[in-house]
Amino acid sequence: MKASDAIVQQMRVAAEAAMKNAYCRYSDFRVGTAVLSADDKIFAGCNVENASYGLTMCAERNAIFQAVAAGALTKDRKVKAVVIVTPAPKLTPPCGACRQVIYEFCEEADADIFIFGGNNVGAFKLSALLPEAFGPKDLSEE
Ligand code: THU
Repeated sequence: MKASDAIVQQMRVAAEAAMKNAYCRYSDFRVGTAVLSADDKIFAGCNVENASYGLTMCAERNAIFQAVAAGALTKDRKVKAVVIVTPAPKLTPPCGACRQVIYEFCEEADADIFIFGGNNVGAFKLSALLPEAFGPKDLSEE
């Protein structure tokens, strides 16, 4: 998948719409994310902060959880791609916790991660952002 693909551009639009709804009254740092499921559906999320700061939830995980709640991500239906947008001109990489949660839903299938910031775009494979990941395979007895 490439950043210029129509589906990635659709994901970008969905992520930007979610980003506008970010609840980020403490950091004032907006993040929007869109996730592409195996059946080519798009799910979006934004960051949601809390006065008890540690309870803040990132945009990436919220988008993944939306897809799970809709039945689009399961053990056998993997996430194909993730788009992350912020208003910052530089690229904002996903935090470690979000990389781990994305890994849960792609494993060896790997996922394309596209990061948009200003006029910049970065394309990564999750395996490059989270090498030697711990995941479902490590809990199986095979
Ligand atoms: N944030 C995300 O939404 N995703 C990330 O991967 C990194 C950080 C949010 C959390 C918090 O609301 C704000 O950015 C500043 O850390």
